[in-house]
Amino acid sequence: MAKFMIRIATPADCADILRLIKELASYENMANAVKLTEKGFFTLIFFVADLLEDGFGEHPCYHCLIAEVPKEDQAPNGYTVVGFAMYYFTYDPWIGKMIYLEDFYVMEPYRGFGIGSEMLKRISQIAIQNRCCSMHFLVVGWNTASIEYYTRRGALDLSKQEGWHLFKFSKESLIKLASEE
Ligand code: COA
Repeated sequence: MAKFMIRIATPADCADILRLIKELASYENMANAVKLTEKGFFTLIFFVADLLEDGFGEHPCYHCLIAEVPKEDQAPNGYTVVGFAMYYFTYDPWIGKMIYLEDFYVMEPYRGFGIGSEMLKRISQIAIQNRCCSMHFLVVGWNTASIEYYTRRGALDLSKQEGWHLFKFSKESLIKLASEE
């Protein structure tokens, strides 16, 4: 592959971002978990979240880097956007600003050309420029290829080293909690 470009996502990238989110979810055997749409909508009882508004509206909840290849290197299905990294800023009351890497994905035919490493480099630069103290991310236990990929680049496994567990309150739990007297 001749070259690739890493750039900041624009609203026009939402369709590609959603396509890649779904590809990564399938890779993680969680395809049915993706409820987001490119542009949100109301059902009878709830609002389906919206990549466009949530990333590019008045109060963006996430940022994205996009990996793009020239037209001559496009995938057989015609895509030139071949990878993405979704991140946002968060805060740790012990150490201050942090960056959270939410999604990190390169389409299979484009892996091994340095696209992932370049995106990690760019996010690290963004983190340093914004005075972040660290970058956190989750990796599912069976994804040993990724665990080794991050470990080779210096990442620490906090579950192993510090015993942290990831918890969540589901929407149903939140509604229950919110309505308790
Ligand atoms: N093809 C090529 N390289 C692969 C690979 C594959 N299928 N699987 C793992 N690798 C390793 C290579 O050995 C190489 O390791 P090294 O540089 O440490 O020696 C590295 O990945 C390739 O580096 P690079 O070209 O910079 O990364 P990439 O563009 O292939 O992207 C990922 C890396 C992790 C984003 C990409 O492999 C991917 O999308 N994987 C599937 C999704 C995933 O697991 N995402 C992370 C979720 S936490």
